[in-house]
Amino acid sequence: MDASFYARIGGQPAVTAAVDALYRVVLGDDRLTDYFDGLDLARLKDHMVALLSQVLGGPAEYTGRDLRGAHFGLDIIPEHYDLVGAYLIGVLAGLGADDEVLTAVRAVLRESAGDVIG
Ligand code: HEM
Repeated sequence: MDASFYARIGGQPAVTAAVDALYRVVLGDDRLTDYFDGLDLARLKDHMVALLSQVLGGPAEYTGRDLRGAHFGLDIIPEHYDLVGAYLIGVLAGLGADDEVLTAVRAVLRESAGDVIG
């Protein structure tokens, strides 16, 4: 991912807005809430920030588990992966991300699918 995409969507303030929006739509969807059951709010926000940073080529501050390790045993099905991906694209489009950014994000989502889907 081109690191400039992070700046192009508006840097830290845009990413914070995107995290808040993604958090609301993902947790507001009862097909997805069970995955996050029992996780505290801070962990959930960490998840959203890590997810967004990964797909936007933002600062590599994340030093936690790799994608495969983080999602191992969650049994995430392809439909739910696609749903979260669609929400993410919608949130970024809503923030004014251009087509080039959205195309690159879709490519990262395709590449990451095998590590996240159970
Ligand atoms: C490309 C897409 C995704 C990326 C980059 C991503 C990134 C991450 C990362 C980095 C973590 C570790 C966070 C930490 O240990 O603090 C994590 C954990 C987690 N992810 Fe994702 N994620 C993605 C998609 C999904 C999807 C589609 C779901 C569910 C539908 C999901 C559910 C979870 C849950 C429940 C955890 C917490 C696991 C635990 O703490 O035991 N993720 N994700």
